[in-house]
Amino acid sequence: SGAALFTEARPASLEAIAAGISACTRCPIGCNGTRAVAGEGRSDAALMIVGEQPGDSEEQAGRPFIGPAGQVLRSHLDQAGIDPAQVWLTNAVKHFKFVMRAPSKRRLHQSPAAREIDTCRWWVESERLLVRPKLVLALGASAARSVLGKTVSVQKVRGAAMPLEGGAELWITTHPSYLLRLDDDARAAEEARFAADLRSVAARLA
Ligand code: URA
Repeated sequence: SGAALFTEARPASLEAIAAGISACTRCPIGCNGTRAVAGEGRSDAALMIVGEQPGDSEEQAGRPFIGPAGQVLRSHLDQAGIDPAQVWLTNAVKHFKFVMRAPSKRRLHQSPAAREIDTCRWWVESERLLVRPKLVLALGASAARSVLGKTVSVQKVRGAAMPLEGGAELWITTHPSYLLRLDDDARAAEEARFAADLRSVAARLA
């Protein structure tokens, strides 16, 4: 498993994690020459949100959740009464995995492989041990695997809390980029479910 690649002590601070992921070459994505995107927000947040990986915009800016999917997430957080500045926002995988699409040369997102998630999860666990959130919200299957160390069906486990070692609660919902890929009718229904999941999380935080 990925943890075997890490022989050093856990990072002592979120800053040390940011530096560590920038230098991390333990998986192929870490070796692709892109910039690592660290988590951001409140270092003692009650809620930690885990996405999949930085996208094109996030890699350029060096900040999580500022592109199209991030805008969907932020507007839903807002509607649920959750201030993103009070959250620890991070990703399962710290570098952007993509293929170049000819001839536009657009960088096309690729999903991380299970072993890439499993390698990077040592960093995500290290973040969780430092932030000590009451709740963790995993967005989509990659994030769920990152937190749990195994694959689960998002549709089966969404909408209910799962206990995590250390006392935190894990909630799993869909990834906001999934909402962006749906046509209008399906999107409205899925947005409503996403909003309901965020309201459940907000209620647990209150
Ligand atoms: N999608 C993610 O999962 N994370 C980001 O940071 C941006 C988009």
